[in-house]
Amino acid sequence: MDRQTEIRLIKQALELKARGETQYHESTQTHATDRYISAAWFERENEMLFQRQPIALAAGAEIPNPGDYLSLEWVKGVPLLLVRGEDQQVRVFANACRHRNARLVATGESGCRKRFVCPYHAWTYDTRGNLAGAPDFERGFADLDQQKLGLVEFHCRELGGMVFFHPDRTAEVPEDLLAPEMASGFDYLKLATQRVYKRRSYVIKANWKILLEGGIEAYHFNVAHKNTLAPFFLGNISTWESWGDLQMRMILPKKPMLEAAELPEQAWDMRKMANIIFTLTPAVLLLAQPDNISLIRMVPLSAGETRIEEVLLVDPPQSGAEQWSEQELTIHETNHNLVHKILMEDWVLGETIQANMASGVVDEIHFGRFESALTWFHEQYARLMALDDGVIARLA
Ligand code: FES
Ligand SMILES: [Fe+2]
Repeated sequence: MDRQTEIRLIKQALELKARGETQYHESTQTHATDRYISAAWFERENEMLFQRQPIALAAGAEIPNPGDYLSLEWVKGVPLLLVRGEDQQVRVFANACRHRNARLVATGESGCRKRFVCPYHAWTYDTRGNLAGAPDFERGFADLDQQKLGLVEFHCRELGGMVFFHPDRTAEVPEDLLAPEMASGFDYLKLATQRVYKRRSYVIKANWKILLEGGIEAYHFNVAHKNTLAPFFLGNISTWESWGDLQMRMILPKKPMLEAAELPEQAWDMRKMANIIFTLTPAVLLLAQPDNISLIRMVPLSAGETRIEEVLLVDPPQSGAEQWSEQELTIHETNHNLVHKILMEDWVLGETIQANMASGVVDEIHFGRFESALTWFHEQYARLMALDDGVIARLA
């Protein structure tokens, strides 16, 4: 986010606050609940969204150094291994040995290695995915070509500090996928030089869209987050802009923004005056607070289940030392727990929504005019899903 944009967005929020308004859609919107509960819908999402579009998977800062790796599962249990090579390039492999398909690295594991040794018979791969060696290979596999037994690789690109991969192995991540405004926003957050403080991973029994929707509106702050977020925010005000298919930046103004009116423009600082949310749907939401960024990874597991990974990204130690000071650690630990507490306030509601939808007792939902980012999301979603009346009827 360049300085001009920062000033423009702060002015926009102040004007809305002065008028007692927020960013509106022209009308309310109503959807049947099928899209959240139907297995057929989920299959359609898998086909049209999860396996056909480039997907933001991780921050490059999660694997900053040569040999750093991270394993995770994409939709349908596709096992992925993200590795940064000696050449600083990130590569995305299938986390599956080419001998008899054993998982090379436990799912969820991260670390730094020069070699990946399969836990079954010790076939060994380098950070570029080449099969570097295997016990007794000549005697047992002389008729196979070792060169052709590297790890299965997906096309990936690191753009603006985020790692994108293409789940379709015949396709590539376009070079211009990330909107310049998003890349500039990630620069503003210094995303590329953040460090991982800690991660958390768990499964929530709710559709991924319900969880995403809770992340891109402020209508619920005064109620659902009455004792956590609400005291710091300006209520039901948010502004947002979107680019490409599903890239969005949302501004959620906080009370310090009111002081902006009294301050010279040079002193305006969005990072202190608002929470900033970036979405790279369907998998990633970045929530920037003044001294940390929460990367929230959502992996849809089924219509009614989503794996959530929370990664707290923070500045490197101020002192320049390897480790954070005791004081910094205390702040990061507090923030890590606070973010989790706030997210759980949303996720618990999400689980009740999912259960109620599944019961079928109320079979539609409504988005208000001020829940305008939800309307935008569902418009994009409908386009990518190629939804028309026939498709909707078939998936219900
Ligand atoms: S399955 Fe990996 S070495 Fe046998
Ligand atoms: Fe929330």
